[in-house]
Amino acid sequence: MSGSGPVDLRGRAAIVTGAGSGIGRAIAEALARSGAAVCAGDLNDSAARETAERIEHGGGHAIATHTDVRDRDQVRQMVEGAVRAFGRLDILVNNAGLQHIAPVHEFPEEKWDLLIGVMLTGTFLCTKYSLPHMIAGRWGRVLNISSIHGLVAAPFKSAYIAAKHGIVGFTRAVALEVADYGVTANAICPAYVRTPLVEGQIAEQARVHGISKQQVVEKVMLASAAIKRLLEPDEVAMLVLYLCSDVASGITGTAYPIDVGWTAR
Ligand SMILES: NC(=O)c1ccc[n+]([C@@H]2O[C@H](COP(=O)([O-])OP(=O)(O)OC[C@H]3O[C@@H](n4cnc5c(N)ncnc54)[C@H](O)[C@@H]3O)[C@@H](O)[C@H]2O)c1
Repeated sequence: MSGSGPVDLRGRAAIVTGAGSGIGRAIAEALARSGAAVCAGDLNDSAARETAERIEHGGGHAIATHTDVRDRDQVRQMVEGAVRAFGRLDILVNNAGLQHIAPVHEFPEEKWDLLIGVMLTGTFLCTKYSLPHMIAGRWGRVLNISSIHGLVAAPFKSAYIAAKHGIVGFTRAVALEVADYGVTANAICPAYVRTPLVEGQIAEQARVHGISKQQVVEKVMLASAAIKRLLEPDEVAMLVLYLCSDVASGITGTAYPIDVGWTAR
């Protein structure tokens, strides 16, 4: 099935962080279906291995690494391991992320450090160590999974919102620096996506508010959205594929909403 999709990435090599679950796994599998060799990195190494095994069973090529994107040595090892295995590195998807909900005046400082460390500093470290390989190959794609909360705010998510806005700014800076080398950098800003993380939040809110899961999605989570449904991980993965394609070589420094009409208001 490799190379069978709408975008041909045969001969390319990719790293996806947070590839053991949800959006990261969907992106890793979509890249592999398009022919790319994929290094699936995750803090959860058995989840990363499962993603790599799913890809291999589907006829693709993948390796798995245990990588905490906050740890510069582990990031360096992930990049070196991918280059050793595949002989090159063309695509980096900075996807690892997590949420913590609390008002600013009660926000635990260690949670602030964790969220900024994973989503902002982790994105910086993975990009820093990956870019030399893309620059050397005169072709590259950096895709940073921000969020609709990289464009607009919501209460009680200050660290997430600061990190995701930071990712958008970082993406623009990278885009300007590497444009001459055939490397593009773009951020993707999804609204709520159906992943294990969000399914858990829906169940919890339904319990707390005493309403159905459907009502949580429509009335609580998607109050600002035009289209009242969750996105699927594959919808995000398809945008990643498009931005990796050669026809997207003129798109850089953007923050693409995929937001069910959220920012139309
Ligand atoms: N699900 C949504 O509604 C949604 C919407 C917009 C943006 N996002 C973003 O998409 C990304 C993926 O979210 P998801 O919903 O698939 O979440 P998820 O919890 O299903 O997957 C996140 C993965 O990241 C890994 N991870 C966490 N900390 C890590 C670290 N320090 N180093 C390496 N890996 C780490 C986890 O082990 C997990 O496998 C996140 O950046 C999230 O903020 C999600």
